[in-house]
Amino acid sequence: MTLPLLKVQNLEAFYIPGMPIVFDASVKVDAGEFVTLLGPNGAGKSTFLKALAGLVPVGEGGICFDGQDLTGVPTHRIVAAGIGFVPQTENVFAQLSIEHNLKAGAHTLPRAVMNERLDEAYERFPALAERRNQAANALSGGQRQMLAIARALMTRPRLILLDEPTAGLAPLVVTEVLESLKTLAGSGIAVLMVEQNVKAALAVCDRACILVEGRNHSEGTPEALMADDGIARAFLGIGKTT
Ligand SMILES: Nc1ncnc2c1ncn2[C@@H]1O[C@H](COP(=O)(O)OP(=O)(O)OP(=O)(O)O)[C@@H](O)[C@H]1O
Ligand SMILES: [Mg+2]
Repeated sequence: MTLPLLKVQNLEAFYIPGMPIVFDASVKVDAGEFVTLLGPNGAGKSTFLKALAGLVPVGEGGICFDGQDLTGVPTHRIVAAGIGFVPQTENVFAQLSIEHNLKAGAHTLPRAVMNERLDEAYERFPALAERRNQAANALSGGQRQMLAIARALMTRPRLILLDEPTAGLAPLVVTEVLESLKTLAGSGIAVLMVEQNVKAALAVCDRACILVEGRNHSEGTPEALMADDGIARAFLGIGKTT
């Protein structure tokens, strides 16, 4: 049996010591797997992702990634281990050009490697290539998310964490962003994302985990979750209304 790429076990995370927000959350992600984290507002989804990115302190539990214990490790070591993070807001430098945003994602790389990574980013997201010298704030909402994703990919992570990558986007653009994440996962880069566009997320992911009040509620394939009437009604916004 192969180990999952990411194994989070019974994690506790908090902003104020003694007042956990995430009490006991466990999530596994395999290499190249696309996992969605769902749950009501205030469930602790963003806090959980931030804890995985080393941006929120963790208490009990553990984070194991690619055979390394990353529990309580600072963000730069988490990035170096191969995890990229795309926060929900302020995930690009609006005043900087697209190219400078991408370079900021990997500023420690030697120039030749940096140029290779830029080529990769532009190949993956051609719309960014055309506008490489324009400021990020000239991009559409969807393109901005593509830039934030491309920036996180500059370090060639094996897992990318995304917090509501489609928030505020028009339905067609939601699909476009999620499809690009599916393509990423298909290329071997695992994806763990928090989403509120539940139906669209379930249409592309391999598995979803539902977090409620900082604890695991349920998990399964999109098909299995949608087939459970109670879950479908309570968390997926689908099912019979009567
Ligand atoms: N910086 C912070 N300091 C203290 N408490 C915080 C902080 N950020 C969030 N919280 C609290 O943590 C709880 C969980 O918030 P979190 O943002 O993780 O939830 P969420 O599941 O991402 O919700 P949403 O679906 O609304 O994005 C909330 O009660 C919130 O008030
Ligand atoms: Mg959130």
